[in-house]
Amino acid sequence: MERIEVEGGERLLGEVVIHGSKNAVLPIMAAAVLNKGMTVIHNCPVIADVEYMSDILRNIGCLVTRDGDTIAIDAYNIDNTEPKESLFTKLRASVLLMGALLGRCGEAVIPYPGGCKIGMRPIDLHILALKTLGADVKELDYGISARRIKLSGNVITFSKRSVGATQNAVLAAVYAEGTTIIKNAATEPEVTSLLKCLNGMGAKINGIGTDTVKITGVKSLHDVVYEVESDRIVAGTYVFAAAITGGNVALRKAPFDRMRSTVYRALQLGCGVRQYKDTLVIEGSTRIKPIDYVRTRTYPGFPTDMQSQLMSVLALADGKSVIREEIFENRFTAVKELVSMGADIRIENNTAEVTGVTALKGTTVTASDLRQGAALVIAGLAADGKTIILNSAYINRGYVDICKDLKGLGAKIRWLKADE
Ligand code: UD1
Repeated sequence: MERIEVEGGERLLGEVVIHGSKNAVLPIMAAAVLNKGMTVIHNCPVIADVEYMSDILRNIGCLVTRDGDTIAIDAYNIDNTEPKESLFTKLRASVLLMGALLGRCGEAVIPYPGGCKIGMRPIDLHILALKTLGADVKELDYGISARRIKLSGNVITFSKRSVGATQNAVLAAVYAEGTTIIKNAATEPEVTSLLKCLNGMGAKINGIGTDTVKITGVKSLHDVVYEVESDRIVAGTYVFAAAITGGNVALRKAPFDRMRSTVYRALQLGCGVRQYKDTLVIEGSTRIKPIDYVRTRTYPGFPTDMQSQLMSVLALADGKSVIREEIFENRFTAVKELVSMGADIRIENNTAEVTGVTALKGTTVTASDLRQGAALVIAGLAADGKTIILNSAYINRGYVDICKDLKGLGAKIRWLKADE
């Protein structure tokens, strides 16, 4: 089994460049389906989920080519509105093909999406959005069928903020007749960047960055070149890696404006934070301070995707912290593994009480989702002795090369292939 081996105890020092955002690039790749032409995406990370999405796009008829961190998608000839199931179950963002294919071709038969098992992850809001635009949506045993040759603009009111449902609604509404208004839309940066990219293709979207988005339907889009933002979750992961090791790390191309809630938590942990142009410098302290109470929230609140990494740091804090998970119901899978490393964490419903211990000990732990896997790497950086993280392939879904980045900062870490 692929695994990461990390020898704890090194202070991280130096500079790391933050790569492009996974959660921003995947919806933009789905948006390329709407454009009967070329979509060129710069700063596209070389990660497993992007490769899976490329395969799905090829399966429906797109030409997808990569040159370094640039991807070009030619969606002129889409000839398949029923993509293969085996591809879909590999990632969550595949569900965005529902809105995109429906908008472009008037029909989509898509398998249920995969992705990290961090909760139920229903798609009722996605379906509601498409139905509100007039689509005939049916739930099948293996997925969803949506049909309507011409969608009609309407008011979509979400009962809760969903990143994916907002993105799917917008993708379906770009070609809908008339005006669509999305109320209680998600405002995460990954929604904002999709809307900006669509406007770059000729869509007419207002209210970008707010919870009320207005889309005026257009008849066609045109070629676009778009640069994806840096990954705020990757940058945040390295913020907490610096914090737990008492290190001094410069994060180049860190999207500071989009990660303020993470930076705020780093300050609470006792870190020093400085910003120079596009570089964020994090200076960890020898004493990690506990955080009385932190809860995950929609943007601009503290992101659920940073919760398990913060938990690893708090496991070594000088006192008691409380973390409440409010977005996903199964996002405490790091707890069992951290406890096996000596952490003192108790869970009640969606709340974890973390009592800091003086040391974690290296042992063999298992990654079961992307961010939890990264959290175990962070814990391993500070643990006594060797930590082995099994199932490390999960981490490849969102980090281009976490071992290379951390090794560059002085960590004793290596990736071992299944046969090593
Ligand atoms: C996206 C991100 C994921 C991040 C999450 C929250 C991608 C590929 N993934 O996931 O990394 O953790 O946003 O910031 O961008 N919900 C429903 N019904 C729906 C859809 C969602 O009840 O139809 C609920 C979910 O169960 C969850 C909440 O809404 O409790 C937020 O989920 P959502 O924002 O949709 O997350 P994703 O788009 O799946």
